[in-house]
Parts: sequence; structure tokens; C-alpha cells
Amino acid sequence: MHKILVFTDLHLLPEGETLIGLDPGERLRQGLDHATTQHPNAARIVLTGDLTHNGTAQEYTRLRDILDGSSIPVSLMLGNHDRRAPFLQVFPETPTTAQGHVQQVVDLGDERLILLDTLNEEAVDTHSGLLCPDRLAWLDARLSEAAGKRCILFTHHPVFATGFKGMDWIGLKSIPELSLLLNRHDNVAQVISGHIHRTIQGAINGIPAAVFKSPCHQMPMALGYQDPRLSVAEPGAYGIVLLSNEGVVVHTEDFTLPDLDSTLYD
Ligand SMILES: [Fe+2]
Repeated sequence: MHKILVFTDLHLLPEGETLIGLDPGERLRQGLDHATTQHPNAARIVLTGDLTHNGTAQEYTRLRDILDGSSIPVSLMLGNHDRRAPFLQVFPETPTTAQGHVQQVVDLGDERLILLDTLNEEAVDTHSGLLCPDRLAWLDARLSEAAGKRCILFTHHPVFATGFKGMDWIGLKSIPELSLLLNRHDNVAQVISGHIHRTIQGAINGIPAAVFKSPCHQMPMALGYQDPRLSVAEPGAYGIVLLSNEGVVVHTEDFTLPDLDSTLYD
């Protein structure tokens, strides 16, 4: 059995700056402390993009400082708030494709984690996501060579329409192409994403797809055409993905709630 911890949409800012009154760096420290204490047996922590708020080297350096010394290996992905050049300046060891996309596989025995790069730095709307032909071809090859392995896909932008229409408008523009590709493979068991800052369950081609909250600020439950910048200080959270012989199970943990004693009922 493998346990994967997922933190998404960290939105790190320089020291001393806040978002809706919250310090994203302090929230991440608190979340990582909680997760590594509660789940020291986790095989990996995956950060599914929007690592920083402004994509500056200063913000990536703060992230590097916070992650230094983590007792669990960490894999990093990019989101719409990130920028490849300053990211790779601070994290040069991160695997990239020949075309420079920040994509990699992490093999854990018979499991394969596939971390995709949906960032489109040229997006007219500045925030929507893309899987261009190069990235799709790379994914196709990684799935083909993993025949017989169970694969979990990680994307920043969700792979289904969430009903938050303002966020869907700046969502992944390549869902039809991804769906066609997944039709040619039978080894993807689960997709994990972020971007929305809410806990959501959906699917693509019948494959379960989960979206997690941020460790910092959340999207209020305001479905329909709402401004995607709307934020609310609901509890910070991270995801827990269990990969076992029985299947894939997805949990979320709100780590900023006060400690409450558990009580047996009669
Ligand atoms: Fe975000």
C-alpha cells in the first residue's frame, strides 16, 4: 500500500505579505508539520501547482526554504500562477521534458504517478490551462510503457467542468484531447487536481477525478458565473491518496480546525 499526500494551490508570497489576511507560507509550514506528523509513512508529497502567487524567484526561494528538510520526498508541479523560468532557476533539479515542460513520472513499485504540466504562459486570459500536442504525446508514451502498472494522473487544472463557471472559463482547454487519449489506455485509475480551491469529485471517461482545497484560502461555495478571485478563509486542507490492492481511496484533511476530543457514543 502506498500513501500519497497532496498539497495544491500554495500561492506563496514574500515574507510579510498576506492574502485575505492569511500568510500562505505559514499555512504551508503548518500543513506540512501536520501531514508529516500524522502520516510519516507517506511515500511522497505532491504539490500540484500554483506553488507561488506571482511566479517570482523570491517566492520560489521561500518555498525551497520551507520544503528543505522535509522527511518525505516532495515532487513539484506548476499551475497558472507559476512561471517556468524562475521556478527552474530555484529548483533546477526538477525533471523536464525535451520541450521544457515540467512533467515527470514517479514510479512506486507497480504504481506510476504521472505529473503533468498544464501551465499556458501565453494564455490570452492568463490563467487557463493547456496540454499541447507535445505534452499529450509525452503522456501517451508514458502510459504505453506503463502497461500493467496502475497510473495516477496529476494536473493543476481539473479535467472536468466543475460548475464554478468563472473557474471553468479559465480551466483546462484540452479536455476533449485528453479524453480521446485516455480512451486508448486502460491503466489510469484516478486523476488528482487543484486550481478551484474546493473539495470536488468528478470524472473523465468514467475515471474518478478529485480536486482538493488549498492549505491557505478557499473558493466560497458560489456556483455559477462568479469572479474566480473570490476567496474565503475556510479551513486549510490537504489530500491523502491511498493506493492499495482494494483500489484507490481519496481523503481530505482540514488541518487548521481546533483539536477536539473524540468521544464514544452509546
Ligand atoms: Fe490557485
